Amino acid sequence: MRRAPREIVEEGGLTSESAYFGRREVLRALGFGGLAVAASPLLLGRGATGLLAQPAPETFPPAVGPKYDDLFPAKRNKTYDFAPLPETPEKISGSYNNFYEFTTDKARVWRMAKDFVASPWTVQVKGAVEKEFSFDLDDLFRWFPLEERRYRFRCVEAWAMQVPWTGFPLRQLIDRCKPLGKAKYVRVVSILDPERLPGQKKDTHWPWPYYEAYRLDEARHELAFVALGIYGHALPMQFGAPWRIVMPWKYGFKSPKSIVAIEFTETRPGTFWNDAVPKEYGFFSNVNPLKPHPRWSQATERDIGTRDRRPTLPFNGYADQVAKLYTGAEF
Ligand code: MTE
Repeated sequence: MRRAPREIVEEGGLTSESAYFGRREVLRALGFGGLAVAASPLLLGRGATGLLAQPAPETFPPAVGPKYDDLFPAKRNKTYDFAPLPETPEKISGSYNNFYEFTTDKARVWRMAKDFVASPWTVQVKGAVEKEFSFDLDDLFRWFPLEERRYRFRCVEAWAMQVPWTGFPLRQLIDRCKPLGKAKYVRVVSILDPERLPGQKKDTHWPWPYYEAYRLDEARHELAFVALGIYGHALPMQFGAPWRIVMPWKYGFKSPKSIVAIEFTETRPGTFWNDAVPKEYGFFSNVNPLKPHPRWSQATERDIGTRDRRPTLPFNGYADQVAKLYTGAEF
């Protein structure tokens, strides 16, 4: 018998997309069709209340409130519209999220996160920098000109989407932090707040807070992006408000949400998923169709908007831009 996604998640790590969609197929056969099912808590066995719940709206409000509305929408930078794939509707990408600080149930994240106010917000800059300091939301939103980039996004669970992020190149923020010459890596840490984040209180077997890291040359690549917004407005909470990093050539877990610290180091830092399940999630985790996950193939991916299945592309379609950063061992 096929196990429910939740059981798989609790045993090892991220859910396989086939387990998730397999469950959807079963529900559809029972008469609960399409997207209404995807947005319903029933999907992951949360009981009858899900049947009464509202379906996901077309758009979701910014978790920082209206304060930065004047900055949106930002001008689209078409240089990055590499792949002519349809944009995933906000209703779909905003109701199918991985944000384990709230819940492991993708369809419930937006509901659980909708009253979370991501303001005020402070980010600490530390480690191998000229001088440690902190910055706040006004700095983050107003230091650099904002632009919109539509990127492909590929989760390690083999689902994919195309969404328009608003933000600026991560390199600009790194330069502002003034790392010392000896800094070789940058590590970022997500919010820790078990009182407001039920997943951190409940799922104590994971090494909270969520943390990620990159080699400095990866983080300084022109595609590495700081996202403050999506779909022409500031980020709704389920997407990682008030800001996250987006690394479009890596599996989605390398795009951490709701960041509160940036640290520069000389040696390679650990990462949340690599520390939690080292056999399944590596440090580089560049999208690679030829390297299966130990529990499922990475050869194809499912578009959560169109439901189409298509071949996975090396580096998620960004090989021309980023392959030169890596040797074979790192791919
Ligand atoms: N960041 C934090 N802090 N917590 C998380 O659980 N999940 C990761 C990544 N960033 C995660 C996170 C995973 S596995 C994926 S696929 C993406 O966020 C999902 O981003 P989305 O929900 O905006 O599609």
